[in-house]
Amino acid sequence: MAEFERAAVLGAGVIGASWTALFLAKGLSVQVYDPAEGAEDRVRAYVAQAWPALEQLGLTERGDPERLTMHRAPAAAVRAADFVQENVPERLEIKHALFAEIEPHLAPEAIVASSASGLMVREMQQGWRDPSRFLLGHPFNPPHLIPLVELIANEATGAGVLEAAEAFYAQIGKVTIRVKREVPGHVANRLQAALWREAIHLVASGVASVEDVDKAVWSGPGLRWAAMGPHMLFHLGAGPGGLDEFCNRYRDSFHRWWADLGAPELTPELAAALAGGVAEEANGRDVSSAAAERDALILATLQATKDLRDR
Ligand SMILES: NC(=O)c1ccc[n+]([C@@H]2O[C@H](COP(=O)([O-])OP(=O)(O)OC[C@H]3O[C@@H](n4cnc5c(N)ncnc54)[C@H](O)[C@@H]3O)[C@@H](O)[C@H]2O)c1
Repeated sequence: MAEFERAAVLGAGVIGASWTALFLAKGLSVQVYDPAEGAEDRVRAYVAQAWPALEQLGLTERGDPERLTMHRAPAAAVRAADFVQENVPERLEIKHALFAEIEPHLAPEAIVASSASGLMVREMQQGWRDPSRFLLGHPFNPPHLIPLVELIANEATGAGVLEAAEAFYAQIGKVTIRVKREVPGHVANRLQAALWREAIHLVASGVASVEDVDKAVWSGPGLRWAAMGPHMLFHLGAGPGGLDEFCNRYRDSFHRWWADLGAPELTPELAAALAGGVAEEANGRDVSSAAAERDALILATLQATKDLRDR
């Protein structure tokens, strides 16, 4: 399959600006459309700020931040692009209006991927005369650092389009998964939601503080989850018998724990209690310094494991 060379980014806020930085780093030309006042300055500032991390990860060898052009019209932004990543606000009428505007101007082989977190592919396909080259390519924030992209295609998707999207994301160093049946939250957000539900329940029922629940994740299973997923980890958790043996040994325990898990409602009172717990945990650090610490830790982890993953 030929390499992708020219990408369009539609909507360059939190997600679109980050995609732009990665696409540029990986040597693509990037044509950006965002109608907001000052969007060009913000995107260029974001790319400049993200570039050192991308360099440290060895992702900029073919990259050139100057290969970015801003466009006043979506039709101009998609012209001759072979891959279009859509990241406009999460409102169906905005996405539909944009798709109607770009569709007549797309290159014949162009693929259009939406970053949408909450909208269904079926709903977004209604904005197309021919939705065969449109699919979901859902990233994790920030897409220039977090490898995962969740892909959703369906019976209206053209032959080979899912595979071509996988090739595109592989070209820019992403890890893709196929979501075979569309469910709210795709896969990764549902997993996050399941864990957070129990984390909240543990706090609300007085089992542990917010800080201790967080510690129990990042210093324990979270470290392992950054290496491997839960099934593979449990496959390694009961000796040479693997996952079969693990299930035999721990079936009853898991059944007892599952039966006892909570289903809290995130009331304003509970949200305030959680915020109070996080304030204690933050211990005077403001949001931007805690975010900088998070990014430094993620970057260091990616750097340290890069060669192991490449093998
Ligand atoms: N923020 C996240 O963590 C996250 C993660 C994964 C996916 N997403 C998805 O990405 C998409 C964008 O989310 P975001 O967080 O970047 O939002 P955002 O509000 O930060 O960015 C949206 C951008 O679109 C621009 N915009 C507004 N109206 C537009 C229009 N009509 N045409 C083109 N651009 C327009 C805005 O100026 C803004 O820059 C959403 O579908 C969201 O669900 C978000």
